[in-house]
Amino acid sequence: MSAKKIAIIGGTGLTQLAGPHNLQSHDINTPLGHPSGSVHSGEWNGAEVLFLARHGHPHSVPPHKINYRANLLALKQLGADVIVAVNAVGGIHPDMGAGVLAIPHQIVDLTWGRESTFFDGEHMPLDHIDFTYPFDEHVRQQLLVAAQDAGQPIADFGVVGVTQGPRLETAAEVDYLERIGCDLVGMTSMPEAALARELGIPYASVCLVVNPAAGRADGEITLDDIRAVLSSGMDKVCAVLEASLPRLQ
Ligand code: HPA
Repeated sequence: MSAKKIAIIGGTGLTQLAGPHNLQSHDINTPLGHPSGSVHSGEWNGAEVLFLARHGHPHSVPPHKINYRANLLALKQLGADVIVAVNAVGGIHPDMGAGVLAIPHQIVDLTWGRESTFFDGEHMPLDHIDFTYPFDEHVRQQLLVAAQDAGQPIADFGVVGVTQGPRLETAAEVDYLERIGCDLVGMTSMPEAALARELGIPYASVCLVVNPAAGRADGEITLDDIRAVLSSGMDKVCAVLEASLPRLQ
């Protein structure tokens, strides 16, 4: 069997990947519009990889305006066999402090008004996917072992509450998210994870906690604080990605 092509969707703080070489840029148009930017293909640690910056490069498309369907279709068109998403998130669970890496296992979707399915009776006929376990367990496990290989401590759990954004939450909203079981809060895992499932592409996420969620630390959440965590944190994320590639092929 030929090796798998691994797509990486970079989030806030990861609009370019330093690792891959022999890069080619692909400007893809899909029946559902343009993705957030060019998709780059290349070789990294012996694997064929695709990279797409979810918010564009430079970072400019807000979470609720991303054409998630075009992003997923573009990766499918270029032959993605596996998708690893990278998401910057807020931490709710006491173990999810700033700088922590986590491989989440569940999602609560609180987004609204986003084009969230291919099976809308227009692009494709109506269908209902199973989404009991939104992340692919095999890919999750490979990412966890890769983190170990790379010497990066990582949390092996996380229920991600996905909010609409782009504003951050109120403290009461975060209390609510905690009560309904969320450990992390982000803005972009949905509808991305569901669309990958609809296309039959195994999908998992590497989350980097970039701030304690609203009301979980003293004072306001500042972009400066987030940026400080992002720059060192994304190096750790990239180390996990690199180590995961031979395992995901
Ligand atoms: N809330 C939602 N999304 C986020 C956060 C947050 O606190 N931090 C980074 N992405």
